[in-house]
Order: sequence, then C-alpha cells, then structure tokens
Amino acid sequence: MALNNKIEELKKRKEQIEKGGGDKAIEKQLAMGKMTARERVDAIVDENSFQEYDMFVQHDARDFDMDKMTLHGDGVITGTGMVNKRPVSIFAQDFTVAGGSLGSMHARKITKIMDHALKMHMPLIGINDSGGARIQEGVNSLAGYGDIFFRNTISSGVIPQISVILGPCAGGAVYSPALTDFVFVVDKISKMFITGPEVIKTVIGEEISMEDLGGARVHSEITGNAHFFAGSEAECFEQIKKLLGFIPWSNTEKAQKLEPKDPDKRYRIDRIMPSDPKQPYDVRDVIRAVVDGSDFFEVQELWAANAVIGFGRIHGETVGFVANQPLVLAGVLDVDSSDKIARFIRYCDAFNIPLVTFVDLPGYLPGIDQEHAGVIRHGAKILYAYSEATVPKISVILRKAYGGGYIAMNSRHLRADYVFAWPSAEIAVMGPEGAANIIFRKEIQSADDPEKMRALKVNEYKDKFANPYVAASRGYVDAVIEPLETRKLLVHALSVSVNKVQQIPHKKHGIPPF
Ligand code: HXC
Repeated sequence: MALNNKIEELKKRKEQIEKGGGDKAIEKQLAMGKMTARERVDAIVDENSFQEYDMFVQHDARDFDMDKMTLHGDGVITGTGMVNKRPVSIFAQDFTVAGGSLGSMHARKITKIMDHALKMHMPLIGINDSGGARIQEGVNSLAGYGDIFFRNTISSGVIPQISVILGPCAGGAVYSPALTDFVFVVDKISKMFITGPEVIKTVIGEEISMEDLGGARVHSEITGNAHFFAGSEAECFEQIKKLLGFIPWSNTEKAQKLEPKDPDKRYRIDRIMPSDPKQPYDVRDVIRAVVDGSDFFEVQELWAANAVIGFGRIHGETVGFVANQPLVLAGVLDVDSSDKIARFIRYCDAFNIPLVTFVDLPGYLPGIDQEHAGVIRHGAKILYAYSEATVPKISVILRKAYGGGYIAMNSRHLRADYVFAWPSAEIAVMGPEGAANIIFRKEIQSADDPEKMRALKVNEYKDKFANPYVAASRGYVDAVIEPLETRKLLVHALSVSVNKVQQIPHKKHGIPPF
C-alpha cells in the first residue's frame, strides 16, 4: 500500500476511535448534561496542545463474550498537553465506552501516563467518569486499581495530582481521587460512593438517591472529600486552571512568580475588626486585604468553614493561607477543621509554598461529640503538620489566641519564623470570663455583690493577660503591629525568608496521628 493510502487508513482508524462508544452513547452522555471525554480534555488544555497516546490500545478480556467486543481506546483517553503554556499529563475516562469501566488495559493506559507525569515532573489531571472495576475482567480490574493507588501514593508530594469527578466514581475507584491532592466536583454530575444505592438497599434496606448518597454537595459540604465545587463543567475547568496558576509543577520547583499587585482598596484592613471583641467578622476580608489584587482562591470553602484555607499571592509569590473564621463557631478548632488545616499545611510544605496563618480562636471545641469523634487525635494533626513544616511560617494573631489553639496555630513554640500580633490580640490560657470564674471563685462567692466582683475580676484578668504584651515580653510574639502594617510586614518577612534552611532529624518517616 502506498504511503498516501496508509495515511488515509490511519485517519479512518483514528476517526473511528474518536467516536468513542458511538452516537447513541454520546447522545446519552450529552443528555445527562455531561461533555464527552475528548471535549473535556480540550476544554482544560491550551488550544491544539493535546497529544493523545495509546489510542489503539484494546482490552484483552476473553470471558463473557468480551473477545467479540471492541472498546475504543478501552474507555480512557490519555496524553499530554499544555495549560497556560506549561506541560500536564492527563487522562479522561470515556463513559460512552463500556461505562468508562476499568479493565486491565484501561488501567495500564492510566498507569503509563502516571509514570510519565512523575518522570517528567508535571502535574497529573485525572478525569473520572466510570462505573468502576470492569465486572467482566474480575481480578484483573482490581489489580489495575491497585496499580493506580500505588502510583497515586508514590507520586504524592512530588507532583501535583488533581482529580476531577465528572460522572460516577463508584466502588474502590474512589480511592484514587482520595489519594490525590485536590478533588473537583460539579453539581448534579459528580457521584462518589463506595457502595451504591442498590447495594445499600439490598444490604441494609435503606433507600437513598445517588445524589444524596454521594453527590457534589455531599462531598463539598459534609464529607470534605472534595476541594472545589462548581456549578458546571466549564466553571470546573476554569477552577482547575486557576489552581494550576498558584501551585508549582513539582516539589523541586517554586510556584511561578507574577508581577506584584496592590490589594483592592475596597478591603480596609483597619476597619475589619469590630470594636466589640465578641462580634464576629469575615477573616477572608483580612486575607483579601493583604493579597495581590485581593485575589484569594479558597480551598474547601463549603466544608469545616470554621477554618479557612487557600492560596493567594503576596508581592507576586504564592502563599498558603490558614485562618480561623470567627464567623463560624467563633473559629474554634474541631475534628474536621483540624483535618482540613493539617492536610493543607502538608500540601504547602511539600510544594515549597510559604504559610501565613491568621489566628483568632477561643480554642478547641468542647463537648462529648467532639471528644468521642476523636478531637484529640485529629487536633494533634495540626501540631504535627506545623511542627514538621520547614517552609517559611508566619503568624499574625488578630484577636483571641487561647489555650491549645494558641499553641496549635503556628505558634513560636512549633517553630514559627515570625509571629506578629495586632494590639487587639488576647493571648491567654483561656477566655477572661472562664478564667476569672476559676481562679477568683472564692472572692466572687464571698463578695457582697458577686456579679460586681466577677466583672471586676474579669477586667483584672483582661488587663493582665488579654493582650499581646505579655507574650511579646517573652519574645513569643516578635512584633506588635498596627493592622495597616500587616501587608508590609508580610512582604518583609517573606522576602527575608527566601533562603530559609531548616533540617529535621533524619528518619524514614514520622508517625503522624493519621
Ligand atoms: C462493566 C459496566 C460497569 C462495570 C457500567 N457498565 N458499569 N460494565 N463493569 N463496572 C456498563 C453498563 O453495562 C452499560 O453497558 C454502560 O456501562 C453504561 O452503564 P449504565 O448502567 O447503562 O449507565 P447508567 O444508567 O448511567 O448507570 C451508571 C452506573 C451503573 C450507576 C455507574 O452502571 C452502575 O451501577 N454500575 C456499576 C457500579 C459499581 O457497582 N461499580 C463497582 C464495581 S466494584 P451497555 O453495553 O449496556 O451500554 C469496584 C471495586 C473496585 O469498583 C475495587 C478497587 C479497590
């Protein structure tokens, strides 16, 4: 056959494969409000930058008449492309081909692109839209998942791994996203669960819809499995690109530096803190008041909202922000917010992203529920993560820093590099009311007017401890600053930390309170 004819044949073969599961299956996919796998890849990468590999790979299953079946691309598209001119590896499961189910060759395509991403030090983006392990392939599909999970784990902390759930992600398949750094979900489209509604009905007799069991909202608001929630696939792809703009391409690099920008003048940092210390405020306004262009990209916004985490830039450099949120539960630490904060610290530390922490919390949430849910074990994760992190670590104590919360939120004692405090800071073992009730109990009880005496003692305690100056006199706080000086000091602290070197004792690895 002449070369021209061979080229024609190649084109035809490719065209055939690009049709995925065929017109009917594609129609069904679109009718569900979903894009096709190829459209998704094209929507994420820069125009015409995608190069597909292994499009001719076929399954090798023989049972259940599979030997008579052709599955285009074996239900997954893999390749490399550019996002904002920087390389990424990507795979997208194609639900139109056997429900995107994962057989051994499908898995082999994924593990090959995962190995490639790790070798080339580039992010891996995985689009999940699959009925899970291909039932006809039995243990071979389970083996495929095992191979993926292993690579997710080994790549963790070396390259960024992003999971996008754009359809079902059922059964053990959920553990790949769970092992990656960031999980993106889309309202009404994403479904993640270990056992589906059918199994639940059979085994425990309960009826539940897929949406209520493991829809996008469930994972964004209740379980914390998802990091970003979008109303549409298009919005989700914009979020992915935005995230990629903030993070470095691997653990041996730093995030891209952009032109520094002043924060938006709308955010007046000197007007955020209410004069009544009992009044809440939105700590995100403090972050927006210090970051370039007031552009704060929040992570896990809808889950454990008593803690705020996310990325912003200070003087052009990416910074990871951690803050207590006085608007929600007064910003206390509990089981979920501890997990949220600790994991984010580890992400930033693994990828050379300095951490800025804004502190305003009354401590850990008291109560039987929290104690029994393991607030000791979960709360310890924050101490562990901050202590172990060697990236530049800066704290600003805005208001309350009580008890264990003071220590946990990147205190000097966990090797914070710089601790600043606003004059409104109150650093003490506990709140003035509780403290006065305990240490002045006798005086209060025996007074002619116990309420008057209580108020007197609360004030006495406040004057003595509820301020930043005792901590500053011990050097636990480096500088007491005016709110208006915050950005200037953060810029300074970050710029004098660029050569930070800190070693932790050599070990195989620590044993964090997982
Ligand atoms: C083989 C599968 C499949 C699977 C779907 N299909 N899931 N084929 N193995 N796991 C096929 C269907 O037979 C169908 O083929 C096509 O994909 C589309 O599926 P539908 O059911 O028609 O689609 P829909 O109605 O949208 O329902 C989607 C679904 C449902 C909810 C995902 O298909 C489903 O419940 N699948 C099984 C999910 C599951 O329990 N997976 C767990 C497997 S165990 P045709 O030819 O008719 O178009 C597991 C363990 C892994 O994953 C452990 C790793 C540690």
